Amino acid sequence: MRKYFIVIGLAAACFSSAQNTIVLYADKGKDIINKNIYGHFAEHLGHCIYGGFYVGENNKTIPNKDGIRLDVIAALKKMKIPVLRWPGGCFADTYHWKDGVGPKAQRPSMLNVWWGNVKEDNSFGTNEFLNMCEELGAEPYLSGNVGSGSPQELSDWVKYTAHPNGSSPMTDMREKNGRPEPWHVKYWGLGNEAWGCGGNMTAEFYANIYRQYATFMTSWNNNDKLFRIASGASDGDYHWTEVLMRDLPAGMFDALGLHHYSVINWGKKGPATNFTEQEYFTTMKRALLMEELVTKHSAIMDKYDPQKKKALAVDEWGGWYDVEPGTNEAFLFQQNTMRDAMIAGSNLNIFNNHCDRVKMANLAQIINVLQAVILTKDEKIILTPTYHVMEMYNVHQDAMMLPLTLTSNNYVFGKDTLKAVNASASKDKYGVTHISLVNADANKVQEIAITLNGANYQSVSGRILKADKMQDYNSFENPDNIVPVVFSEVKLNGNKLTIKMPAASVVVLELK
Ligand code: AHR
Repeated sequence: MRKYFIVIGLAAACFSSAQNTIVLYADKGKDIINKNIYGHFAEHLGHCIYGGFYVGENNKTIPNKDGIRLDVIAALKKMKIPVLRWPGGCFADTYHWKDGVGPKAQRPSMLNVWWGNVKEDNSFGTNEFLNMCEELGAEPYLSGNVGSGSPQELSDWVKYTAHPNGSSPMTDMREKNGRPEPWHVKYWGLGNEAWGCGGNMTAEFYANIYRQYATFMTSWNNNDKLFRIASGASDGDYHWTEVLMRDLPAGMFDALGLHHYSVINWGKKGPATNFTEQEYFTTMKRALLMEELVTKHSAIMDKYDPQKKKALAVDEWGGWYDVEPGTNEAFLFQQNTMRDAMIAGSNLNIFNNHCDRVKMANLAQIINVLQAVILTKDEKIILTPTYHVMEMYNVHQDAMMLPLTLTSNNYVFGKDTLKAVNASASKDKYGVTHISLVNADANKVQEIAITLNGANYQSVSGRILKADKMQDYNSFENPDNIVPVVFSEVKLNGNKLTIKMPAASVVVLELK
């Protein structure tokens, strides 16, 4: 009997020091986490398209289907990519889609003025992109040229991609190009960063332009409705959101965009791998700012749209550092470390928790650019730590968000602090609950005590992503340096869950 008490006492001592607490309300879910929160973004920039997705139909060394890499397709399907934004970015407002359709030998070239003045031969265009999305099982999100295009050009693109066969000269052109049936493209962006590279417009001016362009973008019928996304604010530009909500007629838009990058300082971004703890800490401050940005932009939207019919689409987010030494500065090629896994895990938790308003997010960018999930070098491929977070978190796609309250320890650096732990939870269609957790503290193990209200769970299992050092990454020489493994530092006792997360780690738990 005495022995029994000692064992209980020791167990209590192990976990009594836990200062991080979470209360999960398993029976209080009401909002669905739109799978498009796990969306991606591909621009004609550096080696995102050429060398990343597309290696050309005549490539005999890299296995491909119609020029699209098979290794990339397999990896993205496993990750469950739901939606892909294309062709930019800043590139989108210089892009004329008709240059990228029809026989390749007859497609005119252009200069990619935003990204290194390289020649764009238009060999990867609308048909290639939309066929690729079908192969991936991902919804396409086309970013229309509002900055230097015309309402006619955008209206024609809608017809070419979404209208039924035989209904206009555009659909005849599509048929001639080998595709009689439409791709039913639903998601449309009207310009990109209209406040900057998309035309340096004021919010008021853009709102008027938006109305003009949107007028000529016609859905074919009610079953095939277009989902129109206005070019949104940068970071904390709340005036932009206010003006668009005020001036865009409700029937003419479905979502506002928002762009926020986790950058330390635009003039001095710092290295992607060999960074200091100070640089890590500042990056995480910028990443966690997403909570405030989403909250404040949503509050403005609530004023005009209390029923939350309009979505917030965070259609560019992620870490942005100096390019890898020796690479073209305009190509934005950067390695991807555990720091990036921390950004991804934390931002996805924020989006999940705000899924009543955030219905889409697109990580910038998918391959070989900024916070990529895939890096390629000729025939070689790496899945980055960010890829693994996206894959681990895909259990949340289209699941019901479960609310939780969280009290976290501080991660202290110098005189500054940030919350060490962040989390989100959901219940999928089979009734299985998942909790995703990030320990952003670079140095300390965090013990977390979770109270599970409103459900009786019988078992728990989990996976963890961690590394020896925050600066670690997957290289072409060591591609599996960081991969998810089974997580065993978790105990379920009645409605109490106790877990111990190593410093700088991401965990996803499954409760049944
Ligand atoms: O993702 C790189 C660039 O960042 C995009 O082209 C632009 O929209 C943003 O400024």
